[in-house]
Amino acid sequence: MIYDEFLKILKKKVISENKLNAWLYQYFKDLDPKILSIDETDNVFQEIDSLLKNKKWDNTNDKFYKNKWDRGWSELSKKFIQTENEKDLNPQYLKSSLLKICNFMVKFNCVEAEHQIAELILTKIFKQYFHKVDNIYEFGCGPCRNILILNKLFKKNLFALDWADGVKDIVEIINKKSVNEIQYARFNMLKPDQNYKLKNNSGVLTVHSMEQIGHNHSNFINYLLNNKVKISVHIEPEDQFYSDDLMDSRRKLFHNKRGYLTGFFKLLSDLEQNNILKIIHTQKLYLGSLMHDPYVIFIWKPI
Ligand SMILES: C[S@@+](CC[C@H](N)C(=O)[O-])C[C@H]1O[C@@H](n2cnc3c(N)ncnc32)[C@H](O)[C@@H]1O
Repeated sequence: MIYDEFLKILKKKVISENKLNAWLYQYFKDLDPKILSIDETDNVFQEIDSLLKNKKWDNTNDKFYKNKWDRGWSELSKKFIQTENEKDLNPQYLKSSLLKICNFMVKFNCVEAEHQIAELILTKIFKQYFHKVDNIYEFGCGPCRNILILNKLFKKNLFALDWADGVKDIVEIINKKSVNEIQYARFNMLKPDQNYKLKNNSGVLTVHSMEQIGHNHSNFINYLLNNKVKISVHIEPEDQFYSDDLMDSRRKLFHNKRGYLTGFFKLLSDLEQNNILKIIHTQKLYLGSLMHDPYVIFIWKPI
């Protein structure tokens, strides 16, 4: 019930301040949510504008981009090996406690607020779309926060895949206490290894990892089609889901400066037109971090 209410609110681009406030206080009181005033929001916009003008963002097409993931996840894995505390799997890039929810910027008391809110939404999606499959593969799993959600929900074969160093160590520690034996494989979505075969009756998940492969997604989607996945679920930002208003145009600019996902929905639609796959659900959720909106849901299956 609570999940359904969440989704209903997050599907709306515009809601009233009173309604959002009531909802946040009902479910996230502990995170001390505060909707920013118009002046405060203007200040945030000015900060974002200044960042967009002056900061040299890493672009996912940069030559040394993978090294950054290697360093990031290796650092995280070293800490996790010591503590074995799931809280230490929060990525280093979580730096802001401000989120955009519908038409408002909201300040929370910690940077983990996004993950806590997202967990409820992801739980609902995973239950709905993965309950019938025997195997679930997460591509670009990073610190395995989604694998941990799946692990709590199901007794199934879980596969954690990523191209970066450090992830294997994280999986090994999780496995010490896990009910499911999570299997790890190094996998590059830009150059899918055709010898790595997905098992029959498998679901596929990506969360903010196709984001990282920009316009280079057709090989990966072909790989999934060739492997006859049962269902493929992607929670990703895509540039065509921004409008031209003041709030969205900044976010789209950031998305493009980072070289994030583009052309994915068009690829899916073209493949659907050619009777190769069926798009089951597409939905933008108006839940965003400070700079962009990473929660567009794409669900499809091969025909
Ligand atoms: C923003 S993180 C998301 C991690 C995780 N899915 C989550 O939701 O917390 C992006 C992940 O994609 C991975 N990644 C980026 N490019 C990749 C590629 N070409 N192949 C496989 N993984 C990739 C990175 O190593 C990183 O773990």
